[in-house]
Amino acid sequence: MWRNTRSGWGVISILFHWLSAVTIIGLFVLGWWMTGLGYYDPWYNQAPWIHRSIGVLLLFATVARIVWRLIQPTPEAEGSRLERLAAHVGHIGLYVVLLLVIVSGYLISTANGRGISVFGWFDVPAVLHGLPNQASLAGDIHWYSAIVLMLLAAGHALAAIKHHWHNRHATLVRMVNPAYSQKQD
Ligand code: HEM
Ligand code: HEM
Repeated sequence: MWRNTRSGWGVISILFHWLSAVTIIGLFVLGWWMTGLGYYDPWYNQAPWIHRSIGVLLLFATVARIVWRLIQPTPEAEGSRLERLAAHVGHIGLYVVLLLVIVSGYLISTANGRGISVFGWFDVPAVLHGLPNQASLAGDIHWYSAIVLMLLAAGHALAAIKHHWHNRHATLVRMVNPAYSQKQD
């Protein structure tokens, strides 16, 4: 039930997937909103602090998720050969762009050499700082990679819906219901 099998995703992968999806979309909306705030807005400092703190927690979750993914079997993809290849490349792309968004966000936040306080619980040190133009370069990468991530995720969601309604595959249902991982082939 907890682990993946060749027939379906286990509870851990399902939780990682949906908690990450909600967090990532939430961070995008929060990031967009907070960069438009005026200096005297009460959220001017608070919102970026929340954005950075959740972002660091997402980094830890994403590393754990990728490790879990690598030590587990993966459910067999459904669809034509081309579709299966597109799904595989698309999923790797999602992970790569996600890491790019997170790392560039970290590099904006630590460009001045100060670490990140995660909700005041603990600090993450600045390991790479003082590079020429670091904050603005990382800021550009952060913005464009966040847009690419949203576009990839939208295409990915459309593909999932197409598999569900058009092909009547179990692709989407098995990302929700861990019972599929118990099914015998
Ligand atoms: C998937 C995760 C994330 C998404 C989707 C996301 C999205 C965004 C977006 C859309 C903006 C607005 C950019 C702009 O208007 O220029 C933003 C700004 C920002 N993000 Fe993120 N972000 C994520 C993770 C992080 C992380 C992990 C950190 C730091 C640890 C971070 C730090 C920042 C900072 C400091 C800004 C303000 C940049 C500025 O003022 O130019 N973000 N983010
Ligand atoms: C920001 C949003 C999202 C991200 C970053 C994301 C990322 C991913 C990744 C990386 C995988 C591959 C899992 C692996 O091989 O380890 C995956 C699988 C999956 N995702 Fe998403 N996802 C997002 C949103 C959604 C949404 C909104 C839906 C549905 C409408 C969805 C449906 C699925 C399904 C059905 C699978 C399983 C595919 C299979 O079994 O081959 N995802 N997702």
